[in-house]
Amino acid sequence: MNQKVAVFRKEHFNAAHRLFCADWTDEKNKQVFGACSNPNYHGHNYELVVQVNGIPDPITGFVINTKDLTTIVEEEVKSRFDHKNLNLDTEMFKHLNPTAENIAIVIYNLIRPRISEKHDLKIRLYETERNFVDYPA
Ligand code: NI
Repeated sequence: MNQKVAVFRKEHFNAAHRLFCADWTDEKNKQVFGACSNPNYHGHNYELVVQVNGIPDPITGFVINTKDLTTIVEEEVKSRFDHKNLNLDTEMFKHLNPTAENIAIVIYNLIRPRISEKHDLKIRLYETERNFVDYPA
């Protein structure tokens, strides 16, 4: 069989952030970023969906063992971001706005090296129930 299957793992983390441009006034930041520019930060309940596409292994029948995928997400994402302030507590967002878009790209780059080159990786990140992003697009 050489039919590709998509495997999904849903995860969850809580994190605080602030979206802002340091060169702008608080007023302009509020105009552009709204409540997400609150100077004292605020939290989101992020829902993360990690998707791995590939052909099931002929012996195991797995594209990827979901136990291994869970461990990878735990080590690369949750241990870094869960219950953290993304702006203050993480290296990657010290100088990068922690928008859903940028968080999805960062998560992809953290996980990609740990997934077989034979497999495609996609990240879906929900910042709220109604706002979510996909990377790659
Ligand atoms: Ni926000």
